[in-house]
Amino acid sequence: MKIDNFWKNKNILITGIAGFVGSNLAKNLVTNGANVIGLTKSKKVDSLLFIENIDKKIDLIFGNITDKELIKSIFTKFNIEICFHLAAQAEVGSANQYPYLTWETNVRGTYTLLDVVREHRKQVKSIVVASSDKAYGKYPISLLPYKESYKLNPEFPYDTSKACADMIAYSYSTRLFKLPILITRFSNIYGPGQLNCSTLITDAIRSCLLNKKLTMRSNGLAIRDFVYIDDIIDLYKILSKSLYSNPKKFTGQIFNAGTNSKHQVKDILRKIFVYGKKIKEFKKLEKKMHKNKTTGEIAVQFMDYKKLNLYFGWKPKYTFTKTLPRLFKWYRSYFKK
Ligand SMILES: NC(=O)c1ccc[n+]([C@@H]2O[C@H](COP(=O)([O-])OP(=O)(O)OC[C@H]3O[C@@H](n4cnc5c(N)ncnc54)[C@H](O)[C@@H]3O)[C@@H](O)[C@H]2O)c1
Repeated sequence: MKIDNFWKNKNILITGIAGFVGSNLAKNLVTNGANVIGLTKSKKVDSLLFIENIDKKIDLIFGNITDKELIKSIFTKFNIEICFHLAAQAEVGSANQYPYLTWETNVRGTYTLLDVVREHRKQVKSIVVASSDKAYGKYPISLLPYKESYKLNPEFPYDTSKACADMIAYSYSTRLFKLPILITRFSNIYGPGQLNCSTLITDAIRSCLLNKKLTMRSNGLAIRDFVYIDDIIDLYKILSKSLYSNPKKFTGQIFNAGTNSKHQVKDILRKIFVYGKKIKEFKKLEKKMHKNKTTGEIAVQFMDYKKLNLYFGWKPKYTFTKTLPRLFKWYRSYFKK
């Protein structure tokens, strides 16, 4: 990895640091010499942060993103200059089951954090808030990929919680408060460190490697876009650094990111099972798939990277097929432990 001196000795807060994206981002920033401070809800053992001992190289705080006094104390004690707000109840299924908890964490958590930033506005130079492609809600396929200018039109609880957080973040960035905030709306992210087995790709690889039954939550016909974690970490760094260096240009900006590929869930599963040499198992699964009903989820979603390409010349380095060998290698070693 090429070291970028920009990050050296910068005091950076990552909320939701023990999560999939947070732990990968922490690993990268620590390698770049940053002072990483992380907030997470509980000591979740299943995290890259603990598996790879990244927690030993950072200041880790256990607490709730809705606890304003705690967040205040973190900004003061560590003189936070840069923040990535990733903490969220990020599971669509849990959100359908526990909408109240989802609003609390995703909505209240976001304005709690950003109000603390407002009170520390002199020291804070860059805040990247993770929204999601889900915030757009349902659009006809003829209007996809989503554009950053589209109105947020969510219906389901997770999608609505992200849209609320997104709008709150935008509000704090506008002329009244002028906080240096940038919003990301990325499509599904996958890769090493995603240990949530309710996610499609993790569950499918686990099923191949451990001969476990895959929990099929849909009829396989939904269309999704999947972007690899290393591409996302690169992007988070590009966006945060750009906002830090040029707040006038980047405050209040919104960036989508996906690969502009339309994958049917069924095809992603087929690719994984073929690579995992479990074709018979896939055929069995395929026969039953159509009986599943999909509720509480958007049917068709994919993203392009036009705006990112225009501003930064960015495009994803990885395709799904290209990442299969390293995915299998990583999960094989993880499941052995
Ligand atoms: N993974 C994806 O495919 C994807 C795609 C688009 C956007 N996002 C967004 O990116 C962010 C990171 O996603 P992820 O996949 O790493 O999620 P994750 O579920 O793996 O991690 C979420 C983290 O938030 C923490 N958290 C949850 N509730 C909290 C609370 N009340 N107080 C403090 N911490 C709390 C968890 O402990 C965990 O560390 C989220 O905001 C998510 O909505 C994710």
